[in-house]
Amino acid sequence: MPAILLTGASRGLGLSVLTLLLRSPSLNAGRPPAVVTISRSLPAELEALAKEFPDRLVCVQGDVADKAVSVEAVGKAAERFGGLEAVILNAGVLDPLGKLADVDIVRSPSPLPLLAFPLQHSHKR
Ligand SMILES: NC(=O)c1ccc[n+]([C@@H]2O[C@H](COP(=O)([O-])OP(=O)(O)OC[C@H]3O[C@@H](n4cnc5c(N)ncnc54)[C@H](OP(=O)(O)O)[C@@H]3O)[C@@H](O)[C@H]2O)c1
Repeated sequence: MPAILLTGASRGLGLSVLTLLLRSPSLNAGRPPAVVTISRSLPAELEALAKEFPDRLVCVQGDVADKAVSVEAVGKAAERFGGLEAVILNAGVLDPLGKLADVDIVRSPSPLPLLAFPLQHSHKR
C-alpha cells in the first residue's frame, strides 16, 4: 500500500485533507491510503489521529526546509508502506496578507522553499 506524503498536516487545510484521506472508506477503490505527514508541531488532534490509525499514519516532526526531515519521511514511507504514490505540498505561509503597497516583500518569508524543498529532497533521495 504505497503512501501519500502530506506536508503541513498539523492544522488548517492540511489537517482537514489528512482527516478525509484517513476517514473516507471509499477512497482508492475501497483501500484508503496510508499517509506520512511532516509538520513542526504535533498537536493533540494529529496525535489522536496517529493513535486511531496506527497502521496507516506516520507523523514526522520537523521543518520541511530541512532536507533530513524529508529524507526521514520518504524513508518511513518506504519502510512502512513500500513507497510513495503521491506528494501533497500543502505546508506554507499565508502571512503577510495585505495590500501590495503595504507588504514588505523583501523581508517577507517566501513560501517557495516550503513548497519546493520537500519535493526536491524527496525526489533526490
Ligand atoms: N487558507 C487559505 O485561505 C489559503 C489560501 C490560499 C493558499 N493557501 C495555502 O494552503 C496551505 C495551507 O493553508 P492553511 O490556511 O491551512 O495554513 P495554516 O493553518 O497556517 O497551516 C499551515 C501548515 O503548514 C505547516 N508548516 C508551515 N511551515 C512549515 C515548515 N517550515 N515545516 C513544516 N510544516 C510547516 C504548519 O505546521 P507547523 O506549524 O506545525 O509546522 C501547518 O500544519 C498553505 O500553503 C497556504 O499558503 C491557503
